[in-house]
Amino acid sequence: MIILGIESSCDETAVAVVENGRNVLSSYVASQIDIHKLYGGVVPEIAARAHCEAISGLTKQALNDIGDKKIDGIAVTYAPGLIGALLVGVSFAKSLALAMNKPLIPVHHLRGHVAADYITHPDLEPPFTALIASGGHSHIVYVKDYTDYQILGTTHDDAAGESFDKAARVIGLPYPGGALMEELAKKGNPKAIPFPKVSFKDDPFSFSFSGVKTAVINYVHNKEQTGEAYSKEDIAASFTEAVTGVLAEKAVAAAETHHPKKLAVAGGVSANGILRQKLTDACEKKDIALYLPDKKLCGDNAAMIAAQGYFEFTAGHTAGINLNAYPTMNICGNLF
Ligand code: KG4
Ligand code: ZN
Repeated sequence: MIILGIESSCDETAVAVVENGRNVLSSYVASQIDIHKLYGGVVPEIAARAHCEAISGLTKQALNDIGDKKIDGIAVTYAPGLIGALLVGVSFAKSLALAMNKPLIPVHHLRGHVAADYITHPDLEPPFTALIASGGHSHIVYVKDYTDYQILGTTHDDAAGESFDKAARVIGLPYPGGALMEELAKKGNPKAIPFPKVSFKDDPFSFSFSGVKTAVINYVHNKEQTGEAYSKEDIAASFTEAVTGVLAEKAVAAAETHHPKKLAVAGGVSANGILRQKLTDACEKKDIALYLPDKKLCGDNAAMIAAQGYFEFTAGHTAGINLNAYPTMNICGNLF
């Protein structure tokens, strides 16, 4: 079965074609980073307009790539994300479904991130524990089945990627700062500054990243006020140590207490080499099977949406052409 996937929830317009949820036939990602960089973050209206410009051309290219092969359904990210951005993808997918007379498949963006691991690891099947760390979300979930999830923990405030971007901004790095922080971090001392690692006694798999972000802001402001020199490399390394340390510890602890001992990782932050190494070392020690996504599937893309679209479709999850988009919705499908 061949699914066309469409993703436009934030600042990447993406279209892909995937066979049987695992085999990528075509995949295009048009990033808007260069536009949003000028403003230090994503400007929602500019994002929506840029999606509008890019989406038809990318779809034409993806359909050209598959030649004579026929698609069986159209999957689209319908939640969560920037509403104007989501609506471009959803409206486009609806028109396409209507014109091509194909089923329309709504896909939750975070379910899509998890599906990046199905593409990377053809042997990965639920149940397993998953860590999803992106610019907008930080979750630990138990994936009971391809379309059945239990939320074990989530962030109480900032997402992991968001905290990377905000801390990066304080030390003068352009948006999005996550990958640049990693580069700086590799040149610094992770033990130089004891930034806080937050845990909740009664909520062991949840996160809080606003404290570590504020600690970076205060550290830099204090140094600037007193005129003391400071090392951006040490800040990046110590910050990365605090954030990736918490992500890895909690994800591994969750995987250890769930059966079978399998941990899949997903989302933009899962591209971070320091996090990947921590997870690899900890999972080896605890005898947990670790599934890391291919680096090019960590960030937003449409292959992951088409992949999850296949599993949603086989579970009977299709939508009418009155499908709407939702800015907030949890991975279980509940609006909140
Ligand atoms: O999953 P994603 O592409 O978009 C959302 O769904 O939010 O994640 C983007 C986030 C950004 O915050 C970006 O800075 C972060 O992932 N990111 C990283 C790295 N690469 C991307 N954070 C830390 N280290 C990286 N290497
Ligand atoms: Zn994402």
